[in-house]
Parts: sequence; structure tokens; C-alpha cells
Amino acid sequence: EVTGETKAEKLAALASIAEKSPEARALGTLRETMVFAVGNPEAQILFIGEAPGFEEERQQEPFVGPAGQKLTGILKAMGLERRDVYISNICKFRPAMEGNQGTSNRAPNDAEMASCLPYVLTEISIIQPKVIVALGGVACKGLGIGEGVMRLRGRFYDVQGIPTMVTYHPSYILREEKLAGGGIRAKRECWEDMMKVMEK
Ligand code: URA
Repeated sequence: EVTGETKAEKLAALASIAEKSPEARALGTLRETMVFAVGNPEAQILFIGEAPGFEEERQQEPFVGPAGQKLTGILKAMGLERRDVYISNICKFRPAMEGNQGTSNRAPNDAEMASCLPYVLTEISIIQPKVIVALGGVACKGLGIGEGVMRLRGRFYDVQGIPTMVTYHPSYILREEKLAGGGIRAKRECWEDMMKVMEK
């Protein structure tokens, strides 16, 4: 039961419930530390990524590693600061890997996303943003929008009554930037998607 007067209080209550996450912990494939979300509970835009990585787990804040710096840059280009939006993940724990994981990360699988989905859906219902942005194919699948970010991106889909834009994960843009062509297509398409978000 999520109690509280303000959105911030409700989110804090939800985070402490999510911290226990019996379903997620029972899987045994997720790491210990929960990384819930960051940003403004009153935000109009809610960004949803995959799962925390090495840096996010260390700092207990979503999108603070390389992908996070790219996301922060995208926000800047939109005239926004991190504190103006709400940034979350479809999976609240860093997916574990065999042996000494070091700084390696992997995407959450279906079971891992399903175990955290109730928290994400409650998060959405508390914040009631004007727009959600699903960052990449994994978040897209976890939210039940569908599979294949290439095909799905650039359009709004309904998630709990909230228009949800699908666009690339910032890590994809980082990878494309290192290739011939410098990621121009990926960046232009992501920017087109963010323009639609700004116009909403
Ligand atoms: N990638 C994600 O999808 N989420 C994070 O929080 C960091 C990197």
C-alpha cells in the first residue's frame, strides 16, 4: 500500500516497498542494490531505460554513466535539466553476471522486467506525466509496447493512458557515434522523436 500526501511522499513509500521486491529477489539473477529513480516527481516527462549499470549501482542513481551523460546532453538540447524530468528504469536492480562481473552490464530479461513492472506501473500512476519516453527496445518490450525499436520508434503508444514515445537508447547512439558516419542518422532520428515529445 502506497501512502503519502504528495507525489514525492508516495514515490518514497513506493521505493521502500520496491527495496524488498520479493519477486525480483527470488529470481536470484539480479544484484542486491536497488536503484529506484531520480528527478522531479512533478515532471511532465518520464524517461524509462533498461536497468542500472555499474556506475548507476555505485551511485544509486539512474543514468549517471556514459549512457547517462548522453541522456543528460539530449535533455540539455531540449532545454531541460535532469531536475526538470523524472528518470527511471524498467528494472530496478543491476542484472547479475557469472563470475567477477567487474564493470560489465547486461540487459534485463523478461522475468527480471516482469518482477519490477508493478513498481514501474505504480510509479507512472503516481507521477502521471504528460509524456513517457521509452529509451530503447528493452524498455519498449518491458512496457508491453512491442519488439523492435527500429520499427516502433518515432510514434506515440498508449501506456496506462499516457502517450509514450519510443526512441533509441542513448547507448545505441554512443555505439553509432563510433562508427563510420558518426551516428548522424541515429542522432537525427532521436532528435525528431524528442521534437514530437516537446510538441506534445
Ligand atoms: N542504461 C539504462 O538503461 N539505465 C541506466 O540507468 C543506465 C544505463
